[in-house]
Amino acid sequence: MTQRGRLITLEGGEGVGKSTNMAFVTAWLEARGVEVVRTREPGGTPRGEAMRELLLDPGFDQPLAPDAELLLMFAARAQHLAEKIRPALARGAWVVCDRFTDATYAYQGGGRGLDAERIGVLERFVQQGTAPDLTLLLDMPVDAASRRVSQRAKAGGGERDRFERERDAFFIAVRDAYRQRAAAEPARFAVIDAAKPLATVQRQLAAVLDQRTAAWR
Ligand SMILES: Nc1ncnc2c1ncn2[C@@H]1O[C@H](COP(=O)(O)OP(=O)(O)O)[C@@H](O)[C@H]1O
Ligand SMILES: [Mg+2]
Repeated sequence: MTQRGRLITLEGGEGVGKSTNMAFVTAWLEARGVEVVRTREPGGTPRGEAMRELLLDPGFDQPLAPDAELLLMFAARAQHLAEKIRPALARGAWVVCDRFTDATYAYQGGGRGLDAERIGVLERFVQQGTAPDLTLLLDMPVDAASRRVSQRAKAGGGERDRFERERDAFFIAVRDAYRQRAAAEPARFAVIDAAKPLATVQRQLAAVLDQRTAAWR
């Protein structure tokens, strides 16, 4: 039987350092001889990125219905799985993804208040058993993370998107949902203290990767 690759996801709210640490995680794996495919959600494919635009665009005067938001997330994910993730895993590559289904539970579940049961129906329907092997949850207080988002925006990160415009209460609910998921599935999740300086965060990431992936390499 051919060796199947692994799916590693980076999770956490806005500004916790997911994008910043993507390069570190992929470089760490590549240094150990693994073929890595780096990607993100929503998006990851040309059609998925077009759906991402629609999801993040703050320029409509009517709100996006929460169920429509949920279905778009899973539509983009279905394309991502078919076009990129499953083929990569099948040839033995490791996929590192900036956000995946835990983000749907955190944002559409925790943040928007959608029932986790209904999210689970779509998760099973779309993923058909494909799920992360390891999830790195970058966790830090919401106020400190939102200061980072403000600085990023000032440094040329562009306008705030539909999610970045949400209030602190939304992000506190997102963080709580992520932490609950991590507590419920400790074998899959590793919680990283993302409030620390970058070098410390990356030391934590390296330690977790070393420990959790040893048996897979
Ligand atoms: N450990 C850290 N300490 C201080 N600033 C950080 C740290 N990690 C990331 N940043 C900065 O915070 C901002 C948000 O990081 P980013 O990786 O874009 O977060 P995310 O992708 O999770 O939204 C960026 O300007 C980044 O340079
Ligand atoms: Mg990012």
